[in-house]
Amino acid sequence: TTNTAENYVARARAGGYAVGGFNMHNPETTQALIEASIRAESPVFLQVGRAIVPHMGLEAAYRMTRRELDGTGADAVIHLDHGTYDEVFEALRLGFDSIMFDGSHLQFEENLKATRYIVQVAHSFGVPVEAELGSIPDASDGIDWSAHYTNVDEAERFVAETGVDFLAISAGVMHGLTSGDPLPLDIERIQRIRDVTGVPLVLHGASGVPGSDISAAIAAGVHKLNADTDLRHAFRRGIEETWARGDRQLEDAMSVGKSMMIEATIAKMREYGCAGASTA
Ligand code: G3H
Ligand code: 13P
Ligand code: ZN
Ligand code: NA
Repeated sequence: TTNTAENYVARARAGGYAVGGFNMHNPETTQALIEASIRAESPVFLQVGRAIVPHMGLEAAYRMTRRELDGTGADAVIHLDHGTYDEVFEALRLGFDSIMFDGSHLQFEENLKATRYIVQVAHSFGVPVEAELGSIPDASDGIDWSAHYTNVDEAERFVAETGVDFLAISAGVMHGLTSGDPLPLDIERIQRIRDVTGVPLVLHGASGVPGSDISAAIAAGVHKLNADTDLRHAFRRGIEETWARGDRQLEDAMSVGKSMMIEATIAKMREYGCAGASTA
């Protein structure tokens, strides 16, 4: 396939950087991600994910994102983040550029079987597929994270038998922000998974991960990095600071939030190395 989403990650691998996958939550956060992409001359995955889908529905979230993106000239694709089995088919029907099927809650064989079928269907639409093996816990869960790491042998079989384009792995990073020290990232595991699978890897939960770990992960084979919390918090800070100054309209607060999110997104794009990599 010549789909741009796949090319984004292929280009990132060739260039030794990672492309950001960032989540939209409303029109203003969508505009912030698009504006950051234009200003930083960076490719970006605009992600429709788990917070927005129950809130406004997959179809409305997709249409809003597409409407904001159309005509901007931004080097961006629209990606389904953590899709369920039913959502991936709806996403293909709607016209998403890229999808993630998250079968990480399933038994290995079930995840493999469902992912393989989804890859066949998605590829017939020219759409690449990201899948997840091992599970990425939430920082708020407070559980033993090491039990959720991606197994190297399973990863080899999973990629060979599903034909998945990118693999999201679990290697020590969690969704959200940990209250204590950041968890150690298992760089050696990432390298081994890269070597046995041959596909670009995806690291979720990149908010709160130190820059040195981000660089090490990229060098080990991660070429898509997902971040949400840090950017959402930048938007929220803008709203809170505006309200704290008193007597402001909601629109004023949101436009400050948007500016702060643009700055935070550009900083991530520089950190991931995708700033300046746009070919649009
Ligand atoms: O051929 C159909 C798919 O393999 C369905 O798999 O029922 O485990 O989602 P699933
Ligand atoms: P964070 O909220 O930890 O950045 O994780 C985002 C993510 O992985 C979206 O899929
Ligand atoms: Zn995620
Ligand atoms: Na995180």
